[in-house]
Amino acid sequence: MKLGSLRWKLTASHLLLVVFSLALAAAYLVPALVQLQTEMYERAVLSQARMAARMLEGSQAGGLTLSQLDAAANRLAWRPEVYVGVKDADGQAPATSRWAQAGPVPPEVTAALHGAPSPVDIRYDPVLGETRLFAAAPLVSNGRVTGVVQISVPHVWVQAVLNRVWTALGTALLLGAAAAWLLGAWRARALSAPVQELAFTAGRISAGDLASRATVASRDEIGNLAAAFNRMADQLSQKLDALTEERTKIEAIISSMSDAVVATDGAGRLLLLNGAARDLLGLRPDDAGRPAADALGDHAVWRALDHTARRGTDAAEEFTLGSGARERLFHLNATPLRAAGGRNAGAVAVVRDVTEFRRAERLRRDLTANVSHELRTPLTSIKGFTETLLAGAAADEQACRRFLTIIDAEATRLMTLVDDLMALSRLESRAEPMELGPVRLDALVEEAASRLRPQAAQHHIALRASAAGTLVVTADADRILQVFTNLIDNAIKFTPEGGAVEVTLREDGADAVVSVTDSGRGIPPDDLPRIFDRFYRVERSRSREAGGSGLGLAIAKHIVDAHGGRIMVTSRPGAGSTFSVALPLAREATSAPAN
Ligand SMILES: Nc1ncnc2c1ncn2[C@@H]1O[C@H](COP(=O)(O)OP(=O)(O)OP(=O)(O)O)[C@@H](O)[C@H]1O
Ligand SMILES: [Mg+2]
Repeated sequence: MKLGSLRWKLTASHLLLVVFSLALAAAYLVPALVQLQTEMYERAVLSQARMAARMLEGSQAGGLTLSQLDAAANRLAWRPEVYVGVKDADGQAPATSRWAQAGPVPPEVTAALHGAPSPVDIRYDPVLGETRLFAAAPLVSNGRVTGVVQISVPHVWVQAVLNRVWTALGTALLLGAAAAWLLGAWRARALSAPVQELAFTAGRISAGDLASRATVASRDEIGNLAAAFNRMADQLSQKLDALTEERTKIEAIISSMSDAVVATDGAGRLLLLNGAARDLLGLRPDDAGRPAADALGDHAVWRALDHTARRGTDAAEEFTLGSGARERLFHLNATPLRAAGGRNAGAVAVVRDVTEFRRAERLRRDLTANVSHELRTPLTSIKGFTETLLAGAAADEQACRRFLTIIDAEATRLMTLVDDLMALSRLESRAEPMELGPVRLDALVEEAASRLRPQAAQHHIALRASAAGTLVVTADADRILQVFTNLIDNAIKFTPEGGAVEVTLREDGADAVVSVTDSGRGIPPDDLPRIFDRFYRVERSRSREAGGSGLGLAIAKHIVDAHGGRIMVTSRPGAGSTFSVALPLAREATSAPAN
């Protein structure tokens, strides 16, 4: 039994109760017993004295002297420790007495001599050297008090009886205490066991074992407490299950988000980061729990999180990461996290890569401006020449022909531009379904080359086409031909006279790759990323001379993408460029193609 435990306290209180009541009983009982015992002894001694007096009065009448009376009295002693003696009318023992001793007359003797009822005196007897009980009775002869009979017994005798009482009381106390202890311990055990069981179960639940329940069968208050406790545990585990489910859902949502989610706690440690946060911001999974300042460094995201958590207000900003072609634009939204009582509990930031979004936005904006600009140039030219003709130049037949030829060329250019724009728009909106079928690329490459041979010859450019065997892809033949035509057309256009253009077809893994290599002026590295944008031209003025609108490559890229292929470019300024188109090979490469 542990000191201070409920069992200990209950047992101790039992014990205390018993000991206290016994002690209380003893406190009242013992003085009463002492008095009773003393009185009994006193009465006994007194009546002995009176009896002895009556007997000795008879002897006195027979003429015995005081000394003889004293000797006779001595013989009346019923035990050696008892003294029975005679005193004369002055209260003095006869000279012959063994116990004769001069001194003041004791009170019981004085009282007896005066004929008063003798009190019993308890005092120290210097002759016997102990405390004794003294009693005296008058000796009466002829109606006159002639002396007294004195009796004394040791006071120890009274004490001896009392001692027995004390021993009995002590034994009762000990037995009572032992019984109280045993009984108390047994009851306390019965009472404290269910409480202990409850405490044990509560401990297990708080340690995480939510299935643990108290098994208390008693129908008393503790039983009710146990039932209430079990109900509470049921509710707790239900709530926890619901919370866990909720948390799992939220975690799934956050981890599947394409936006980066980063949260910090009140101490600036990383609380949460999803997969996108690792990809976009270069964080590692084990960064969770680390101080955000260490994991993120002097980063816009960390600054925003810190700022938001401190200020307690939302924040939105944009920032860039990386440089040059690798530069990415991010949009960040941060919200403070508030704990109970409005305490700062950190902040959460959602970061989105808006590079593509902004690019598309810019493209859309540019498109209108570009289209208007592209349309305006030929229209201005047409209008200028028409006005000149109307102003009288029509009369000069030669000038008239020259101007009309120019107007015709500009109109053609306008038509091509509009056709290209419409083609691009159709491709983008997927308005026209592609007519897919098995296509022999070697034949297609040869056809594109043969269409552009006259143009190459005109510019004194050697155009070679070669194919490494028969390669079949599933494609829309007309559109793929349009891609090859544009690539070869560009190669011829942007290669100075005397140069060479080579078209090759080869197999590369699961792809068929068509490459158009020229020995032209090449494309500066800064322009390469934008070369497939609509209306993008490296040198605006010079390409316009060549009659291009800058839509060819954009259309080509759309077509190749729609086929699940890739279009790539490598270039060295001054040394030439290579445009490659990779298209996935058809699986049944042996089946006979249509073209
Ligand atoms: N082989 C090449 N060598 C150098 N520059 C090239 C080459 N191919 C394309 N370019 C550059 O890319 C730009 C875009 O080409 P794209 O084919 O889209 O337009 P375009 O040829 O000018 O006009 P369009 O094809 O609509 O008639 C060209 O204006 C040119 O500046
Ligand atoms: Mg072109």
